[in-house]
Amino acid sequence: MTALRVDILSLFPDAFRGPLDVSILKRAREAGLLSVQLHDIRDHATDRHRTVDDYPFGGGQGMVLRVDVLDRALQHVQAQAEPPGYVIYLTPQGEVLNDSIVRELAGHQRLVLVAGRYEGVDERFVEHCVDREISIGDYVLTGGELPAMVLVDAVARHIPGALGDEASPHDESFADGLLEHPQYTRPAEYRGWEVPEVLLGGHHADIERWRREQRVARTGARRPDRLPALETTPSAPEKVGIPGIRVRDVAYPEDVPAVLNVLREAYPEGSVPSGASEAARLLEHSPGLLLVATAGGEVVGVIVAGFDGASAHLLSLAVVKEHRRRGIARALVRVLQGRLRERDCEQITAFAAPEDYVAESFLTSQGWQRASGSAWTQRL
Ligand SMILES: C[S@@+](CC[C@H](N)C(=O)[O-])C[C@H]1O[C@@H](n2cnc3c(N)ncnc32)[C@H](O)[C@@H]1O
Repeated sequence: MTALRVDILSLFPDAFRGPLDVSILKRAREAGLLSVQLHDIRDHATDRHRTVDDYPFGGGQGMVLRVDVLDRALQHVQAQAEPPGYVIYLTPQGEVLNDSIVRELAGHQRLVLVAGRYEGVDERFVEHCVDREISIGDYVLTGGELPAMVLVDAVARHIPGALGDEASPHDESFADGLLEHPQYTRPAEYRGWEVPEVLLGGHHADIERWRREQRVARTGARRPDRLPALETTPSAPEKVGIPGIRVRDVAYPEDVPAVLNVLREAYPEGSVPSGASEAARLLEHSPGLLLVATAGGEVVGVIVAGFDGASAHLLSLAVVKEHRRRGIARALVRVLQGRLRERDCEQITAFAAPEDYVAESFLTSQGWQRASGSAWTQRL
């Protein structure tokens, strides 16, 4: 038995043939997992000109697909198989398609997709015959054929067995709310462009951790609108032995302006992100490794590190002027070191500009070793 039957009503059924005849959709159809039946709406016109549309009542531009023709076409299609299909009209006015709608639709045995044209369809058809209106995005296309293909493609990937690898749709972007981690393949080095070392090491746990971090980071940087779905709950503020000072994870996006202010005060102009979207990139380097020190709830210190699964880099460390010389930077480094040890990180590297004597004296006093001109390391 076919896992999913899709009937498509369109004025241009031939438009579907190419996309349905290649790759995964073709294989799914050949394997009997997906059946797509194309129907020409025009076959249900009754006059000799095979008219399917007419002028809009009340005047205005363009033509509208007639309710009687569409209804006849739909009834004809529904009568061809059991159970009756769940009827979807593709329209820019519908719910915007997303991963959870796709998954829900993949649970149906039968879908009937109606592709509009011209100014759209008579509203009575939508009211009386359509179960759901779906859009593929906030823009207007000339017809519903491409949206119907998008929907079939997205849904077909969720038919068990269609991808040949049951796990695949669950690993991809949006499956758990996050975007997917970056992917690399051979060659490992090309024109000096390298693959992250952690992926070449064959250490499964490190690779998994790196991927998870990348997924969180990418989502934060590219789709912060999806962040509420992430585990962004900051850890409880930690006491660090300095009266009134607590250290905790950055809260995104609430802390972003304060974090930027602290960094701007400490770093030269141009080296600090200038806005919230750029600030999200801080997270890209640092899910779990961007910490703030607070005094009375105000952010007074920031530490940012990056970890590639093998080694860590201290990217920024700053404390506002009024709170310097209280041991806050030291406390931030200590908490960060704890986080890195939890990730089995063995060493951290920091960079201090050649004549940054403040940074040098801080690093030396904390037991860091100079590794080269500007690089300093510390074993964890
Ligand atoms: C030119 S559009 C009609 C747009 C309509 N007059 C409006 O302003 O909402 C013609 C047909 O293309 C399809 N279509 C266009 N954009 C779409 C989108 N973003 N998502 C789904 N279907 C779309 C619909 O089937 C629609 O009936």
